[in-house]
Amino acid sequence: METSKKKFRPIRAKLILAVIVVSTLLTIVIIFFNIYVQYSKDLRSLDEKIFQVRESAMPSIARVVWNLDIPALEVQTNSIAQIKDLVKVVVIDPKGQTLAIKYHPNHLELKSSQIELINNNLRTYKFPLYHSGLPDEFIGTVEIVATTVYIKNEIFNRQIILVAGEIIKTLILSFLIILIINYYINHNLNKIIEFLKRFNPDASVMDHLDINRKSKTADEMDILQNAINQMISQIRILNKEKEQIISDQEKKIEIQQMAAINSAKMAALGEMAGGIAHEINNPLTIINTHALIMTKTIEKGNLDPTLLLKSSRSIASTVERIGTIIHGLKNISRDVSAEQITKSPFKNILVDVIALCEEKFKLAEIEIQCNVSSPQFDVSLNCFQVQLSQVFLNLFNNSYDAILNLETKWIRIEAKINGPWYIIHFIDSGNGIPLSIRDKIFQPFFTSKEIGSGTGLGLSLVYGIIKNHKGEIYYDNQFKNTCFTIKLPIEVM
Ligand SMILES: Nc1ncnc2c1ncn2[C@@H]1O[C@H](COP(=O)(O)OP(=O)(O)OP(=O)(O)O)[C@@H](O)[C@H]1O
Ligand SMILES: [Mg+2]
Repeated sequence: METSKKKFRPIRAKLILAVIVVSTLLTIVIIFFNIYVQYSKDLRSLDEKIFQVRESAMPSIARVVWNLDIPALEVQTNSIAQIKDLVKVVVIDPKGQTLAIKYHPNHLELKSSQIELINNNLRTYKFPLYHSGLPDEFIGTVEIVATTVYIKNEIFNRQIILVAGEIIKTLILSFLIILIINYYINHNLNKIIEFLKRFNPDASVMDHLDINRKSKTADEMDILQNAINQMISQIRILNKEKEQIISDQEKKIEIQQMAAINSAKMAALGEMAGGIAHEINNPLTIINTHALIMTKTIEKGNLDPTLLLKSSRSIASTVERIGTIIHGLKNISRDVSAEQITKSPFKNILVDVIALCEEKFKLAEIEIQCNVSSPQFDVSLNCFQVQLSQVFLNLFNNSYDAILNLETKWIRIEAKINGPWYIIHFIDSGNGIPLSIRDKIFQPFFTSKEIGSGTGLGLSLVYGIIKNHKGEIYYDNQFKNTCFTIKLPIEVM
């Protein structure tokens, strides 16, 4: 966060800036120190030179002055004036009269600006003259005037070379620093930055950082690399834990969904339970009645064989009917988790389901318009039989709820073959499903029924089963009434 606000300047640039600043400061200090040392040394050697002159020349000058031998004095002063760095040599008598004055030969050729510069940097030596070296016999003064300009110039010229050297040294040093930093730091840092930019903590396969160093010894870069790799391992562990938690939760949800679907299947059967009681009770009453008739006939000793045959045939057919109902009930309530695909005519599925519904629909005066023995239902399907029964049981239940209070109450099932498809239309006398909920009806838990009366799982279960058969189910708006169309591949699976 912070870095994005700051201006970016690479470490390389910072280091070079630091090197240049430090090196410049150091150079300045060294130069000043050098100037100071050189200057005092050169001054000392100038002084020494002048004192040597005094030692060697003063006695003879004193002699010449004593003799007032002006030409000899001029020769002597002239030879002293030749010495480097001198401006002039003046000999003055005790009254202050100049006896001789000689300039350094260069001095005569100088321009006025140079003379002014020299005059500002003068160093004057005054030596008294005594006759025969006796302190009482003062005979004049020798004034030697030197200039420090040349010394300073020379020192300045030498410093220029030094400064140039320092600049070259700094440039070479900076270049070397760039190379070293690039090799040891930047090059590796860039690899780390690239790696971290590419790094995706959610990826299933996580790379490890390998900056591939050739150095024989380990350093901070290796520590950084190890720390990053440890962090990645940690993330990997955390991710695995997270995945485990998610998959545990998914399993829990799956189990809950299975339980909900199971209870929905049971609910579908339960809705039929009332009807089933009738389905079985009525035939039982018939059986009971015929058994009573037979008992009474036998008690009376009236053994009319036609009467007895009629009753026993009736009992047999009624028992068969109960058998069909129980068969259907057993089939539809079977556990489907281990169900195998079987080849069976679509008719068999319808028979099972209708056997369960018949009585309930009869009581509600709902007409089931479906002749199971018609050839359209003879088509054999490779299917999970029980699961398909559950599909139709749910469709029957939904239609029952939808049309119970209508004036015209019927349910019609039509089927036909269309290319590779077996197409079934499940139509009821309802006036269609409102547009507003049409795309929600197959969603799990969607129900328009009152709380407690519908789970909303019926159609989602149906949808799942048909998908499992590689088929399709959809609300079919081609029909005037409510219609669900199911397409099943004939050569399924
Ligand atoms: N034949 C139909 N006519 C009108 N509406 C229907 C029909 N079949 C389904 N629906 C609508 O679709 C909704 C969802 O149906 P689904 O079978 O999934 O759940 P449900 O019937 O409400 O509850 P459950 O099946 O658990 O009793 C129903 O609530 C209803 O609104
Ligand atoms: Mg339903």
